[in-house]
Amino acid sequence: MAQNILVLHGPNLNLLGTREPDVYGHQTLADINEHLQVVASASGAQCLAYQSNHEGELVDRIQASARDNTDYIIINAGAYTHTSVAIRDALAAVRIPFVEVHLSNVYQRETFRHHSYLSAIAKGVIVGLGAYGYEAALRFALAQ
Ligand code: DQA
Repeated sequence: MAQNILVLHGPNLNLLGTREPDVYGHQTLADINEHLQVVASASGAQCLAYQSNHEGELVDRIQASARDNTDYIIINAGAYTHTSVAIRDALAAVRIPFVEVHLSNVYQRETFRHHSYLSAIAKGVIVGLGAYGYEAALRFALAQ
C-alpha cells in the first residue's frame, strides 16, 4: 500500500473556488487537500500537497520526491499538462508511479486541451469527475 502520497497542483489551481466555478467547481484547493489528508489518514497513510504556478518549481518538487520516500504521485499539472516536456521528463526520471487528474473533462473542451505530455507515462488518467477525481486517484494509490 502506498504510504506517502504527493499531490501536485499546477498553475491557477490555487484559484479553485473562484476560478470558473462552472468548469472547476466551488471547492477551494484547501478544501480538496484537507479532504485528501482525511482519506489518507483513515488508511494510515500520509498525503502531502504542493501547488505552484511555476514550471521549474514543479520540476524541483518532483525531483525532491525521489529523496523523501514518496511512493505515489497524483498530479494535476493544469495548463502545463499540454505544454511541458520538462514535467514529463521529471516524472519519468524519478520513476514514481503517478495518476494524472483533471477536474474538467478536457476532451469536451478546446482541442489544445486534448493532448497531454503526461498521459503516456501515467499509470492512469482521471478527467471530468471534479474534485472527486483526486479522491479516486488517492484511493487507487492507497490500494497499490
Ligand atoms: C485542468 C485542465 C487544463 O486544461 C487547465 O489548463 C487547467 C485545469 C483541469 O483540472 O481540468 O488549469 O487541468
